[in-house]
Amino acid sequence: MSPLRMSLLLAGLTLAAPAMAQAPLASEGCLGCHGPNGAGAGGVPALAGRDAAELRAMLIAFRANERPATIMGRVARGYTEAELAAIAEHFARQPR
Ligand code: HEC
Repeated sequence: MSPLRMSLLLAGLTLAAPAMAQAPLASEGCLGCHGPNGAGAGGVPALAGRDAAELRAMLIAFRANERPATIMGRVARGYTEAELAAIAEHFARQPR
């Protein structure tokens, strides 16, 4: 591989890293209600180990006010759709 291609590849990796690191950080804000690792707490549903696409669809519906919620509409509007997708992937990877 040429040195130019190599440095372009490394630049791409460096740019991708912060977006991936944001998911666990953003999901910290969910744990107070959804329990440690999103395992569920009290009457608040568990998120850990659930299907990522299903979680993402629910979050985007909360954000768009299309899914009834006491609090989740306001929570979801605090994030972009891309952040919600990353958060959904993060919780889907957590052990149940
Ligand atoms: C203030 C407490 C609170 C916080 C913070 C919170 N949630 Fe929730 N979550 C709830 C409650 C309560 C519900 C039930 C729906 C409702 O009443 O809003 C819920 C429902 C959900 C659901 C639907 C689950 C289902 O099976 O119906 C998802 C997905 C979800 N939350 C994800 C998240 C994510 C991701 C975050 C962090 C970005 C988060 N929540 C932060 C309290 C919270």
